[in-house]
Amino acid sequence: MKLPQSKIAVLISGGGSNLQALIDATANGALDAEIALVVSNKKQAYGLVRAEKAGIPTHYFPRTPFRGLPAWREQFDEALAAVIAPYQPDLIVLAGWMHINTAAFLDQFPGRVINLHPALPGQFPGAHAIDEAWAAFQSGDITQTGCMVHYATPQLDAGPVLVSAVVPMHPTDTQATFESRLHAIEHRAIVLATHIALQNIT
Ligand code: GRF
Repeated sequence: MKLPQSKIAVLISGGGSNLQALIDATANGALDAEIALVVSNKKQAYGLVRAEKAGIPTHYFPRTPFRGLPAWREQFDEALAAVIAPYQPDLIVLAGWMHINTAAFLDQFPGRVINLHPALPGQFPGAHAIDEAWAAFQSGDITQTGCMVHYATPQLDAGPVLVSAVVPMHPTDTQATFESRLHAIEHRAIVLATHIALQNIT
């Protein structure tokens, strides 16, 4: 008897190339999971189109209505958790999700939220990691960077690491060639980390 497939929810804010890697991996069998829901906090995120093309339910959930509330981050996070919970995901994958989740969200899915970050553990936390790494390379401070997928914690881009991968920077690189190499590695890392995180649960 085949066990029921694991269900994942993917949270995005942008182009969704990492979501696409997950969609492709579920379609070709590399990842034994179903994407039950895609949430975006940006209406124009192309990832929403990718999800719709793949027949995945989508939900647009903006932060704007919450801003100005006394504890808007917690209130946003509680409401977000209420949107996701009915889908009963085994795992929530933050794939280019530009929002720092508080404990109000994370405590509702303990050990079940993972985050992709385009830098190695402890390096370049925050939204500008790629630009900061490129600037550090230009200054001669680094010759490599990387990406990681880690369990999400309330701390920005920090938590137990599931997968990390080094991405070298070459003297012949432009920022575009470097970023393209980094993104290709991210697409592999997020699929592998999702697989490992699901194994850790079941
Ligand atoms: C990725 O580089 C991710 O690491 C960063 O935002 C980018 C999202 O890309 N936080 P995409 O939306 O998956 O194409």
